[in-house]
Amino acid sequence: MDTVAKQIIGVPLPVFGRPASDPVVSLYRQIYERIRGTILGGGLAPGTRLPSSRTLAEDLGVSRNTVELAFSQLEAEGFLIRKVGAGTYVSTAIPGPERAPRRSRTPAPLPAAKAGRESLSKRGRAVVHAAGQAETEPSDHRLFAACLPSLESFPLRTWRRLVARHSRLWHREALFHGDAAGYRPLREALATYLATARGVKCDWRQIIILTSTQQALDLTARLLLDAGDPVWLEEPGYLGARAALQSAGANVVPVPVDADGLTVEAGIARAPAARLAYVTPSHQYPIGVTMSLGRRLALLEWAARASAWVIEDDYDSEFRYTGRPFAAMQGLDVRGRVIYTGTFNKVLFPALRLAYVVVPDGLVDAFTAARTIVDGHSPSFMQAVLADFIVAGYLSSHIRRMRALYHERRDILLDAIAEHVADRIEVEASDTGLHVTGWLGHGVDDREVSRSAADNGLDLPPLSRYYLTRHPRPGLMFNYASVPPGDLRRGIGILATILGRLPDWSGRVVDNGSLPGAMVS
Ligand SMILES: Cc1ncc(COP(=O)(O)O)c(C=O)c1O
Repeated sequence: MDTVAKQIIGVPLPVFGRPASDPVVSLYRQIYERIRGTILGGGLAPGTRLPSSRTLAEDLGVSRNTVELAFSQLEAEGFLIRKVGAGTYVSTAIPGPERAPRRSRTPAPLPAAKAGRESLSKRGRAVVHAAGQAETEPSDHRLFAACLPSLESFPLRTWRRLVARHSRLWHREALFHGDAAGYRPLREALATYLATARGVKCDWRQIIILTSTQQALDLTARLLLDAGDPVWLEEPGYLGARAALQSAGANVVPVPVDADGLTVEAGIARAPAARLAYVTPSHQYPIGVTMSLGRRLALLEWAARASAWVIEDDYDSEFRYTGRPFAAMQGLDVRGRVIYTGTFNKVLFPALRLAYVVVPDGLVDAFTAARTIVDGHSPSFMQAVLADFIVAGYLSSHIRRMRALYHERRDILLDAIAEHVADRIEVEASDTGLHVTGWLGHGVDDREVSRSAADNGLDLPPLSRYYLTRHPRPGLMFNYASVPPGDLRRGIGILATILGRLPDWSGRVVDNGSLPGAMVS
């Protein structure tokens, strides 16, 4: 056998296995990879003449066609030069071993974790750090899972029917790129829905369809903030907003929340020239208070004077249990300072990944451009299905049914808390949204309680996690929407046992004994 052929083959022929499926392609691929690897590893110097395809085929015991296929591919990729009548050579354009350090076929693996962190930019590190602080891992399979509606109540049959209808209607035109700002019928349907249900004032062109509120926060931060810009964040506040703002390099200024919502005067005292304020006026996250009209007007007044922006995150206010939901703050804004965002991931189901942002006229083009460079647009198909879901009235009827269901679940939760842990938890009973907060006794380590709860299958985030500065009082969040009544009571029973090992308000310890049927996480 030719010495070059030996170098290429390296090992005896049986190594070139012949898988039953697609044998020719597999053999050609093996020969191609062997020659390519030998060249890159420095085993075949530039200019080396290779044996003819006929000789190599005989040596390998394969057909000449198979070797020809490998040679042609290597020639097309620039590894080989083939001249009629002169033979096949290793290209001289490939750095030789004296110029390029001899590489082994499989480079030594770098220590993975170190290589990952070290290779990040400062901004990249800020993003990873901010995401870590936000503890964004979904906890869908624990009781009281955050961000989860009642999925067993979702009208799946109706949804399937709409999906099937759209699949049948789907035509070639629909395969093209969609509008980066979103599918027009969905934007139009949303404009009507938001005007009637939320008092939002906008033209459909101001609505941009996104994957999530998180994307709305990310695009807003990218477009409107420079690194170091001061921004107001409710204290305590939504971790997703904190993460988006911090990863954009903003200087996040915590502004305390009281019974009337964000304390605008405190914000002005701390950072009068902030560029932006993030608020959840309809249902403060996580405390649950509603921002008073006076505070809303004061915030808009400050924003207009400071030329600052206000992000209004209206994430769950469809669900108000006494009276009609309060109108959105955006409807009060006459100077175009509010960026309003809402999500279907919480109202319908989290895998949907459809949300929206309503921006002042002057920002529509910028948001559309930013959306384009981030990820083009949301899938047209699901947007079309959702548009039909809204227009046919299914969204409104689903919200109506869920309002009754969540109201009932909230009351069961409050009753269970009153029955089992009233001496250890003081509930802030909000009449809106999908969660309530409960305060623990001063001095209790709410992270520790939350960890014990997690060990027993309960997702009860500690309130201290939502504060950037010192938290005034420990507590827990109870996301009750996805929890059936029996599990609500059972979950609070487990919590009672965990808390029974702590002193109550009077300092008394009542040990309730072992945990009743711990949940499986
Ligand atoms: C305050 C707040 N905003 C937004 C969201 C979710 O939005 P998305 O999943 O669309 O990012 C949540 C999740 O529950 C939330 O609590």
